[in-house]
Amino acid sequence: MANVAFIGLGVMGAPMARHLAKAGHELSVYNRTRAKAEAWVARHGGRLAASPARAAEGAELVFSCVGDDPDLREIALGPEGAFRTMARGAIHVDHTTASAQVARELAAEAAKRGLHFLDAPVSGGQSGAENGALTVMVGGDAQAFERARPVIAHFARAVTLIGPSGAGQLAKMVNQICVVGVVQGLAEGIDFGLRAGLDVKLVLDTISKGAAQSWQMENRGATMLADQYDFGFAVDWMRKDLRICQEEAARNGAALPGTRLIDGFFAEIQKLGGGRWDTSSLLRRLRKNA
Ligand SMILES: NC(=O)c1ccc[n+]([C@@H]2O[C@H](COP(=O)([O-])OP(=O)(O)OC[C@H]3O[C@@H](n4cnc5c(N)ncnc54)[C@H](OP(=O)(O)O)[C@@H]3O)[C@@H](O)[C@H]2O)c1
Repeated sequence: MANVAFIGLGVMGAPMARHLAKAGHELSVYNRTRAKAEAWVARHGGRLAASPARAAEGAELVFSCVGDDPDLREIALGPEGAFRTMARGAIHVDHTTASAQVARELAAEAAKRGLHFLDAPVSGGQSGAENGALTVMVGGDAQAFERARPVIAHFARAVTLIGPSGAGQLAKMVNQICVVGVVQGLAEGIDFGLRAGLDVKLVLDTISKGAAQSWQMENRGATMLADQYDFGFAVDWMRKDLRICQEEAARNGAALPGTRLIDGFFAEIQKLGGGRWDTSSLLRRLRKNA
């Protein structure tokens, strides 16, 4: 069992940390909004830390799951950041969806200090975190990866080293590019079916056994038909991810025509007040004037 720190007990981080505590690791936790960390410790045990730096003291592995690049920089490199106190050889495993650039920057900074940094974004959403069934895409050093892998495995069904620092974040970008195309296709199919007067539930039950099958169809089809979006992966988060994808595409030359278009649709949903709605709300946009 390892000494482990967890920074960021949000929708994703709290259940991930819970799996680590359940597995018997010594846990030290930090959350910016202290009340969340207090509630977490009251339920799951462990030590409440006053800052990322305090949480990281004595930890062999420091996990984090925060918001965006500036948040990650702050919890790692800020005046109260984890890098200040991490012991030589310790590994920072970051599950935030962030840019490949910040991952490379933190890996280089970690190396200067005798530390390791793995970018390890996840797919599988809140239910994947709750059920310990996340898919984890990792970038970084192979030896650090092998040391971290068995601990990450407590909340993952797949943990894969994709390549050097930044490669985990690049794989997550591929994931998001694929996801938005599928969700938009599903929304268009449902809207078309409804306008054609079909029993769309019956249609989805049928075609989900054929070539159109997808995770989105199986997990979101029924809730989309019920016009339910008050859960899941928020449009605001997806816009952040698509901004990261488009910034990377500007560097590597990928055109991303569909992704750009759908990003504009998500901007319209934000204007409708749907920033916190699930991304499957692409259907509500199409049904506005139905
Ligand atoms: N939700 C999903 O389905 C999902 C799926 C895959 C990936 N992700 C990614 O996972 C990350 C976290 O998502 P989430 O849904 O767990 O979000 P969340 O519920 O908003 O949690 C974010 C956590 O980060 C902390 N945080 C943010 N900025 C910080 C800063 N500058 N300093 C210290 N702490 C900071 C927040 O603290 P407070 O409590 O003070 O706000 C909170 O604990 C995001 O990058 C997201 O894109 C989410």
